[in-house]
Amino acid sequence: MQLFIEKDYSAMSKKAAQIFADEIRQKPNLVLGLATGGTPVGTYQELIRKHNEESLDFSKVVTFNLDEYYGLTPDNSQSYNYYMFENLFNHVNIQKENAHMPDGRASDIKTYCKKYDNQIEKSGGIDLQLLGIGVNGHIGFNEPAEELVVGTHITDLTQDTIKANSRFFDSADQVPTKAITMGIGSIMKAKKIMLLASGKGKAEIMAKLLNNNLVTTKTPASLLMLHQNVMIIMDEEAASKLKNL
Ligand code: GLP
Repeated sequence: MQLFIEKDYSAMSKKAAQIFADEIRQKPNLVLGLATGGTPVGTYQELIRKHNEESLDFSKVVTFNLDEYYGLTPDNSQSYNYYMFENLFNHVNIQKENAHMPDGRASDIKTYCKKYDNQIEKSGGIDLQLLGIGVNGHIGFNEPAEELVVGTHITDLTQDTIKANSRFFDSADQVPTKAITMGIGSIMKAKKIMLLASGKGKAEIMAKLLNNNLVTTKTPASLLMLHQNVMIIMDEEAASKLKNL
């Protein structure tokens, strides 16, 4: 595992975007796994800047998003589909047919989820997977549990997550209670993984993750410690409770 501690959110975002840009330049048809939430917004802004000012080319890049709220249509401004277009896809030269996102309207969920995993596989698998982390240690919407699901699936959101994500909605009762998410196996199959964490609110979970040297499905992000090629990029606030640095 590689750990980078950057001064603040802006430095973390620049570091992350630089790694993305280097990978895209090395392999123009890179397959990216993408995340939503507040954390990657700065990384996406920096990638847009690199596209505009440094000719970073997305024309062959393929993307797969981690998750989507179940029941939200892509034109709903709270959906992750909408978020991705607003925060990245509308501002770079990605081919829209190369940008894959779980469909919150899917009806035959089982078949749909299988198809999503097959599409990832057919594309050659994810080269670089970007992740944020929930305050409860979730990645994507793989919530703490006794057992974790391997492939893409539909899941119930925990109260912790509904509460944390209500900041993007008018009230907590508007947050969908279910989501489609890549499973822990879909994530772990990525060749490289980059986890971002920023701010004091993430200090506790990052300490739990990095101080204890333990793996448990009750902190889904801890399973990343078993992956061969993980980078964690965090800012000083998120790193403020780490020991033995
Ligand atoms: C959300 C998403 C995750 C995201 C996490 C952290 O619920 N499902 O993919 O990484 O929570 O979000 P934020 O970056 O806003 O703290």
